Amino acid sequence: MFEINFLNPKAVEDKVIIIRLDLNVPFSENEIKEATRINESIPTLKYLLKNKAKKIHILSHLGRPKGEINKKYSLRIVLQKLSKKLGTKIEFRDDFTSGQSRVQLHENVRFFPGEKNNDPNFILNILKEIKPDIFIQDGFAVAHRSSSSVTGIGSYLPSYAGFLLRKEIENLSPFVLSKKTKGLTVIIGGAKIETKVGIVKHFCKIADNILIGGAIANAFLVAKGYSVGKSFYANEDVSLAKKIIKLAQENKTEIHLPVDLVAAKNLNDVKISQEKITNFPADLMGFDLGGRSIANYKNIIKQSEIVIWNGPMGVFEKENFSKGTLEVLRSVAEQKSAKTILGGGDTLNALRLFSVEKSAFTHVSTGGGAMLKFLEGEVLPGIEILYKKKAIK
Ligand code: 3PG
Repeated sequence: MFEINFLNPKAVEDKVIIIRLDLNVPFSENEIKEATRINESIPTLKYLLKNKAKKIHILSHLGRPKGEINKKYSLRIVLQKLSKKLGTKIEFRDDFTSGQSRVQLHENVRFFPGEKNNDPNFILNILKEIKPDIFIQDGFAVAHRSSSSVTGIGSYLPSYAGFLLRKEIENLSPFVLSKKTKGLTVIIGGAKIETKVGIVKHFCKIADNILIGGAIANAFLVAKGYSVGKSFYANEDVSLAKKIIKLAQENKTEIHLPVDLVAAKNLNDVKISQEKITNFPADLMGFDLGGRSIANYKNIIKQSEIVIWNGPMGVFEKENFSKGTLEVLRSVAEQKSAKTILGGGDTLNALRLFSVEKSAFTHVSTGGGAMLKFLEGEVLPGIEILYKKKAIK
């Protein structure tokens, strides 16, 4: 294992610092819906203030504005909360020029085309304007992306891991498993199969059980020959699901699918019903796990020693379709003798919505895609740039 430089007071004192955070929080109509990523970023920022950093320049993204200015995704939305939590005034900068204040939050890096392509001109321009002495990586949730603010800037400077990143690495590392692990259950939900293929294939080789929910389950059900009515799935996902099912069989891993679904004509339909998957109506769509599926999943969770979960079991934001996610979440939270790892924006949002305490789990990751890739054993580029770097000791 390569060494990563963790923060120390000497590295910070009197320094101009660029810190990459992931402040990509869910929001709607100018209101932050879930603030874990802001809250978890505070300890490093406080440490920098306490240890006499000269200037702190915060970089982050919000959403996917695709290289153009789109006010909907302005990072101004986090300014007040961040400043309140930190207990310090923060100056907002529309670009990467340096202002007067000790702490400055710069506008969404993804407003600038140079961010995505790791463009040296963009990076050098930021370095010229801000004149940083060091770079701190604390955006674990974005560490799987190679872009200017995640990997580029740090490659020019002495670079350090912040406390959020360190906590993620320390808590997730024991679950980077490479051989068949008894009592390991992995729960995968959400909408898009392609972002989860890697992790599902990985766990097909080492888990005892994989529980599948959310829209992803549709492709697996179709791959098994069931009809899912008007529920959404892509044909290419069905062939992927077939390959995954075969891989699981070869490795004696059980893939569990819903046996019933909560169904309706559409998301806003008030008429809902529980439908068996062996006889799913052609004109309905499945939006959540049905009662028997929930009971099956809870039973498996109860017997597990390690549970890893990413992605909701249904459209949990709608009360009619929330039970699958809620019940599975509660069941995982109740496993006090098991190790339980959760992550991803939707999962964090579900915790908040259902008032389930994070402390009920072994670790709740700020990362979604990043957590999955990390657990797969991939070296995340945003962490890799911290390896073997010169440091101020
Ligand atoms: C996330 O929400 O998973 C991170 O902020 C990364 O966002 P991205 O998937 O748009 O790169």
